[in-house]
This record gives sequence, C-alpha cells and structure tokens, in this order.
Amino acid sequence: MEVFESAPPSYSEQELLDIAKTYFNKTGKIKPLVSERDQNARLIDGDDEYVIKVANSAEDDNLVEFQNAVLNHVAALDPELAIPKVIIGKDGCQIFKHNDNNIRLITFLKGDIFGDAPKSSLLYENLGKFLGRFSTAMQGFGHPHSHQPDFLWNLDNAIFTKQYIADIEKSDDKELVEYFYDRYEKLVVPRLERMRSCVIHSDANTYNLVVQGDEISGLIDFGDMLFAKQVNELAIALGYAVLDVDDIFAVSKALISGYTGEFPLSEDELEVLFDLAAMRLIMSVCISSNRASAASDEKHREYLTITQAPAFKALRKLRKIGMSFLNAFARKAGGYDAHRNLTPLKTSLDGIKISKMFDFDIYSEPRVLFDNAAGAPGTEHILNPEKHSNWVTNLLDENEARYGLGNYGENRTSFTLGVGFKSHGSPPDRTVHMAVDFWLRAPEKIYAPLDGVVQAIASNDDPFDYGTVLILSHQVDEGPEFYTLYGHLEKASVKKLNIGDTVAAGDHIATLGEIHENGGWTPHLHFQILLDLLDYEDGNFPGICEVATWSTWSDICPDPNLLLGFIPESFEHSDLTINDMLESRKQVLAPSLSVAYKKHIHMVRGKGPYLYDNTGRAFLDCVNNITHVGHCNPHVVNAIQTQAARLNTNSRYLYDGINKLAARIIDSMPDPLSVMFFVNSGSEANELALRLARHYTGRKTTVAVDWGYHGNTNATVAISAYKFNRKGGNGCPPETRLAEFPCPYQGRFNNYSDESGKAYAASVDEQIADLIKTTGEGPAAFIAESIAGVGGQVIYPDGYLKAAYEKIRASGGLCIADEVQTGLGRTGEQMWAYQLQGVVPDIVSFGKPFGNGHPMAAVVTTREIADKFANGMEYFNSFGGNPVSCAIGMAVLDEVENNGLRGKAIITGNYIMDGMRDMMDRYDLIGQVRGKGMFFGAELVKDRGTKEVAPEEASRIVQYLREDAVLFSTDGPYDNVLKGKPPMVFGLPEAEIFIDKLEKAFKRLYKEGF
Ligand SMILES: Cc1ncc(COP(=O)(O)O)c(C=O)c1O
Repeated sequence: MEVFESAPPSYSEQELLDIAKTYFNKTGKIKPLVSERDQNARLIDGDDEYVIKVANSAEDDNLVEFQNAVLNHVAALDPELAIPKVIIGKDGCQIFKHNDNNIRLITFLKGDIFGDAPKSSLLYENLGKFLGRFSTAMQGFGHPHSHQPDFLWNLDNAIFTKQYIADIEKSDDKELVEYFYDRYEKLVVPRLERMRSCVIHSDANTYNLVVQGDEISGLIDFGDMLFAKQVNELAIALGYAVLDVDDIFAVSKALISGYTGEFPLSEDELEVLFDLAAMRLIMSVCISSNRASAASDEKHREYLTITQAPAFKALRKLRKIGMSFLNAFARKAGGYDAHRNLTPLKTSLDGIKISKMFDFDIYSEPRVLFDNAAGAPGTEHILNPEKHSNWVTNLLDENEARYGLGNYGENRTSFTLGVGFKSHGSPPDRTVHMAVDFWLRAPEKIYAPLDGVVQAIASNDDPFDYGTVLILSHQVDEGPEFYTLYGHLEKASVKKLNIGDTVAAGDHIATLGEIHENGGWTPHLHFQILLDLLDYEDGNFPGICEVATWSTWSDICPDPNLLLGFIPESFEHSDLTINDMLESRKQVLAPSLSVAYKKHIHMVRGKGPYLYDNTGRAFLDCVNNITHVGHCNPHVVNAIQTQAARLNTNSRYLYDGINKLAARIIDSMPDPLSVMFFVNSGSEANELALRLARHYTGRKTTVAVDWGYHGNTNATVAISAYKFNRKGGNGCPPETRLAEFPCPYQGRFNNYSDESGKAYAASVDEQIADLIKTTGEGPAAFIAESIAGVGGQVIYPDGYLKAAYEKIRASGGLCIADEVQTGLGRTGEQMWAYQLQGVVPDIVSFGKPFGNGHPMAAVVTTREIADKFANGMEYFNSFGGNPVSCAIGMAVLDEVENNGLRGKAIITGNYIMDGMRDMMDRYDLIGQVRGKGMFFGAELVKDRGTKEVAPEEASRIVQYLREDAVLFSTDGPYDNVLKGKPPMVFGLPEAEIFIDKLEKAFKRLYKEGF
C-alpha cells in the first residue's frame, strides 16, 4: 500500500507518553501536531521540548532511517543550523519498532510558523541564507534510499503530474497550466540533464519553517527528502514564497541573493529557477485537482479547490511579469549579469562607429539635456502633448539646440502623474527609462545605425505607449545577436518593411510619428538596445521598468550609449554656466589672457581629433598642434600614468629614459646636432638657445625674421615682431634686428624660386651690416621659424634659409631653427621643417608637440657649442627631462612612427589644400592656399589684384565654423589667414568634414554679404 493511501497512525496521548518513557526515558505533557501521513506530537517537559514522530505503517523502514541520517549529517557539519536533533534512546538506538510503526524522538524547534508570521525582506533573505547553509552541509551526503525518482512530489518528475491537467475544472486554469508545462518541456527539461543533483529537503514551504522575528529558527518535516536536482531546493522555497505576496521582486531578490550568497548556483541553474518554482505550484494544483476529482465528499473537493486559488493567482502574476524576465532576474539576484551576453556585447561594440541616424549629425549638432524627473520643468505638460511640444520647442530654441537628449536610466517619476506605466510585479509604477530619447521640434526621418534584420513591427495605440515601434536585430563581428528598438514612429513609414527584411546601415527605416499617432508625445525617438526579446516577440517590449527591476533590466537593455558613443558629460547637467565660469575666471586670472570665440566654449573632454564641450557636443579640432598624436592619446596617457606611479625626479640622477629619448631625437637630426637639453616650454627652449648663442659668440644681438613669434619671456618677446610690433608692443628693441618677411604672396618677391629666396636673404645681410655699423660686431644669432606660423603659414622661397645661414655664419653668428610649431613630422615629408630648406642649424628648439600637451620642450645643438656653454656654471632645470616627461616623449615618438603619421600628414594635408584650392573658383576671397602636410592656411584678401587683407571675413569664417562645431583660427600679421594645424591623427574622414563645413561657411559668408 502507498503511504498516501494508508491512514496515519493514531495513538492516544497515554500511549504516546508510554512510548516516550519506554524508548527514550522521557516524560512530559503531550500536544498533538498536524501531519498528513504520520502521527507527530509535542512532548513538553519543562523547557525541554521534543517531537515524537510515529511513522505511517506503510512507510519504508529505510526512509525513516534515511531521515535520521540527514539530521545527524547536518548536525555534524553545521551544528548551529536550526534543524531538529535526533534523540538517542534505549541501548543507543535512534529508531524503535512499535507495533508496525517506526518511532523516533527529535528536538522541537521553537518559534512561529513562517506562513503565519509577519514577513520582512530580511526574513526572506535569512530564509535564503538558511537554505544555502543547509545545501552547503548536504554536499557530499549520500544514502542508498535517497533515490526516489517516482516520488509524487519529486520536482524532477514534474511531467508525471501533467496527466492531471484533465482534472482541472476551469479552462483558463488549464490553459495556464499548459503554458507552464509547455515552457517546462521546451526550455527546462533539455537543460536539466546537465545539472548537478544532491540530496535535498525538497519541501521548504512556509509551513515547514519556524521563525523568531526576522530569523529562521527551524526547518522541519524531512519527509520529502530525496536525491534530486540541486536547484530544486531553492526553486521549491521560491515557489511557496511568492504565493500571496505583493512585491514578488523584493521577496525573490532577498531569497535568491540570501541563498546564493551562502551557496552559489550556476548560470544554468538560475536560468531555470523561476520555471522550476512555477512548476512546483503547477504540480501542487495538478495533484490537488486530481485529488479533488477523486474526492467523494463535496466539501473536501471544495476545500481542495479553494486552496488552489493562491497558486493560480501567483502563477498568473509570474506569467504576466514574464518568465524569461524572471529567470534573468534570478541570474542577477544570484550574482551574475542578468544576461549572459552582456559582457560579450560590450566587447563587440567597443569603439564601434554607427551610421548617421538622422538627417543631422547627433555628435556635432548642439543639443540640450532633458530632465524628466518629477517636478522638472516641462513635465507638468506631459499629459497635454500640444503644450509639451511647445515647451520642448521653446527649450530647444532657448538653447540654440538642434535636438534634446533624454537620459537612459532616468527615474521619470513624472510619469506617475497620470501616464501610468503599471507594474505587474511590485506595487509602485514603472518609472525608469531604459532608452535614450531624441526630442525634436517635429517628426524627422530615422536611418539604421547598423546593418540589421527587421525583427518586429508593432502598433500600440494605448495612450503614452509607443504608437508604432520597430525592432531590428544585429550582429557585430563575432559578437552576440542584439536588437535596437525605435519607438513613436509614423505608421505609414514602416509599411514598406516586412519581418525578416534586411536593412543596411544608413537606410531610411522609419519616420517619427506626429502626436496623434505616436502615443501622444512630443515627437521623439525612443532608442533602446535589447539583448533579448524575452517573451515580447511581438515588439511590445517595455521601455520603462520598475526601480526594483532596473538592475536586471539594465543588463538586458544596456545603455544605448554603447552604440551612440556620446561622452558621459552628454548626460550630466552642468551646474556651471558659461557666464559663471567667465566671471570667476575674470576674478582670478590675469586679463591679458584671452578666451577663444565670442561664444565661449566650456570644454570637458578630448579624444583623438575632437574636443567635447560640457553638453557633449563634439568639436573637430583643426587648431591644436600641441596634442600632436591626438587628444588624450591612450598610449601617451598610459605612459604618464605608468611612469608617474613609478618614479619622477630631476635629471641630476641617473635613469635610462632620458638617455634613450635624447638618443632617439638626436638620431632624427643631421650631424653635427648631437647634444640635447630638456626644458619645459618653447619659450624656455628659445631662451636657452639665445643663451647658448650669446655664450658661444660672446655677442648679444639677434637677427630675427619679421612677424615671427618665439616665446613669452623677456628675451623671446624681444625677438618676436609678432608681439613687439603689434597691439601693446613697444617696437623693436636695440638688441634685435628684423630681416624682411620672406612671404612670396604679400612680399616683394612673388615666387618660390631660389632667386626669390636669395633676394629676401639680402635683408639678413643688411641687418648684419647695420649691426656691425652700430655695435661694432655681428649678431650672436639668427632665429627663424622653419615655416612662419603666426606669420600666417608662410612657406619661404627655396634657398631662403640656406642663403640667410651662409650670411650669418660668415659674420660669426649661430643659426637657430625654431621648430616649436613645425617639428616632429608635422609637415610630413621631413621630421623637422628646416630640412625642407636643406639647411643644418647650429641650434634647434622645439616643444609643443613633444609632450602632447604635457609641458615639455628641448634644445638640440652641437657638441662644440654645448661644451663651451659648460663653463662651470651649472645649467639645472627642475622639471626638464624628468622621467615622466621622457616616458611621454617616447610615447609620442612611438605614435608618430608606428602609426605612419608623417605619411598620413601628406595625404590628409594635400586633400585639405586641394579642397581649399578648389574653393578658390567659387570664393574669390581666397587669395592663396599654402602649406606643407598638416600645417596649412588660406589667405583671405578683398581683391586678388591688390591683395588687400580681409581679416573681418576671416574672423567670420572662423565664427561660422565654430557654430558648426569646427575649431579653426586666423593668424598672420593682419589676422587674415585661415590657419590649420590639427592633431596629426586627423585623417581623411575628418578632412572631408572640414572641407564640407568650410565650404558651408564660405557659402554663408557670401550669402550674408561682406
Ligand atoms: C614658433 C613658436 N616658438 C615658440 C613658442 C613659444 O612656446 P611656448 O608657448 O611653449 O612657450 C611658440 C608658441 O606658440 C611658437 O609658436
């Protein structure tokens, strides 16, 4: 006879007392306890309390012994765990045969029954921890009688109870049970085989648990113990725990995280946890339906049916929340990413470039960040789309923004104002936004950011829903499949698409919908990434989630910025206004320092050829020759970090870096340039160059090329006509003589021939002669930039420097090449621009690009000059050539060499200059385009014949480019030369953008007039 069919034993109280006395020598008072198939009674002897367990006569002796073996095993491994302890009786025995029944005595565990007690999240967490400890203790336990595959309540045998579906009365209940069986057979059974098994309690329902406050004070009823899948232990507890609770998420999170904190589960196990929990409830309703159908007594049948109600309710709730989501929730609570593919997706999308999603460029167009938290301005209009739309337009206008950006992960509590995104699993509404929004003045076209396949198209006309929504699937390289979702579309615009269609990156996939068909919103795109369609194959995938589920959802729907690649500041509100910053700058910084542009820019980041302002807007940098190998170049940053963390000291100690870097630079220079000094700025380099020359020659004066700039110190300003002959300058000082500016465009000799070079160099001769006449000796030095930078990107005629050097050397002076702007390969053809003129200077100064933004500069000279300088007075420089600077210098050279930046400079530079020359046909303002590699310019003149300079026009072009997110500058004696010297990582794609936008700027200038 089966144990469920045999009536439980029914000894009288006196008989039970006799049994206790006879076998265990215990006395006390008897209190009956409820049991389905055995007879249990409490034996109270003062503070000592026991349970007399009288097994059903049909119960297998071995199973009784098995239960005691479990209790003894756990007591030995985790003595503090609150499970009953087995009492040893007469003759050291633990089990006694009395009539047909096996008798045992175990300790009674005090407390309230979990099911009837008040419950907190902490209690559920403690339940999880308790069961986790129990599972830990049970590892390695074996017993021959633990194997009961056919046991009715064995969750591994859930298929057995499927036959009882026929006994379920209501058709909708049947359908529900079939749904869960279907999932179970399709999704769970095939995976179970791979999962570990163990002896488990198998019935940690809330009536088998005893609590004291928030603590678990006991687990009882070991009658269902068997060898089964390990994960069933938690699944069964979870199934019962979610019965009749309001907040499924809080309860299950506490329980799962408590359990897995003690006893980790595998990803496989967690991915079926909720299905198995549901199956426990399914088995329960199946078995009770079967019993009800067999019950002869109507009342009993009714009772059985009523007790099913909480299980059906819970099952419906689980289904509504979504079983696939719940399994992801279990993964997260169990310590994993909610989705297996999260990390692989992030890896595959690292550094990805997407195609244009709108007719405008989301990166370079001005934008404004929208706040949708409760109380944020504008949110009061959400229920009135017309008003909201006007408000959005005004906000965009006020900020001169092309679009508004809505934040991912924002808790839009404003949505509780009546928009009403109800939760299925926990009481508060859904409020957390799982997408990035693009808010617009009016509907616009949307283009596919990547190649993809149409996965779902749905129309949901509920107020504040998506309207029409489109989902595409994608795969990037070997990465996992994922999806992009586009909400609030125009229905007609997606008509041409069918499920399964492929779309190419850049294809027009849809157009945004007007208010009347987009769910009732101000036109905007809701753009979301999904790693999984979960149970939402039809496209009605949620875009908003509960606060309680955000940590799970954010793994399934990771930040769309993985694709968009906006800088983080794009999504941060800046507390500082431009005016605030300007005001505080005025307070603390010297007014002689200017601020770029009339409309100032608050920069927060740099990357490659781009700088980013505080709204995240990307500005193409065509100016910065200091960040030679790109803003925040990772190799350079790494060199700084590594060396700064290891050693930074001054160059009086020995370290390898300085020698290696000096050798590498000297290697790039012709003989006899062979000795190096490290300094901190171009000005300091030129100061030192002058000192070297003065010391070597014993003279004081310098011949400098007109309109040159060599630094901000006393001695270098004194040789910089660009400073002393312009605003605020005091004119040429007596120790300086200016040689005629050898500018073939504006100068006296209008070509680049050798003759022209020689003709300009004649002026050097005149200055030498004048010096000798007035001071009695020739100059100490001649200094020239190798291409005139501030002078307006002026390429000297051939042979100019050669002739000038000859004349200076003949007079006993030294020749200094200022390579601060042009050095380290900027001109492409040669590493140093003086090489373009076929000369070898006596002293070379360089700086700017050397440290890629870190203050670093150097002077290279001959052994003879350096030795003469070493007259006993030490040349010490606190910072020059320190180990960190040297590591940076090496990294910069690595980048130039390893990435072929010189070759690239020629190609890109020529592309840009060709583009500008092409514009000369359309814009007669451009008098000349000139340059070498990534050092180029265009001189603007009002009349190509008279060459009258056009500085206002040049300034307006720069201003228009700034409005179009391109940083460009003017220079030259009259500020009429458009001057370009971008970071060397500027390539053809950037050059194309630059040329397009420059054309646009000229077009605008001509349209607006000048
Ligand atoms: C040609 C030239 N020499 C020297 C300097 C001075 O360099 P720094 O600003 O590093 O002192 C500059 C700076 O613009 C320069 O362009």
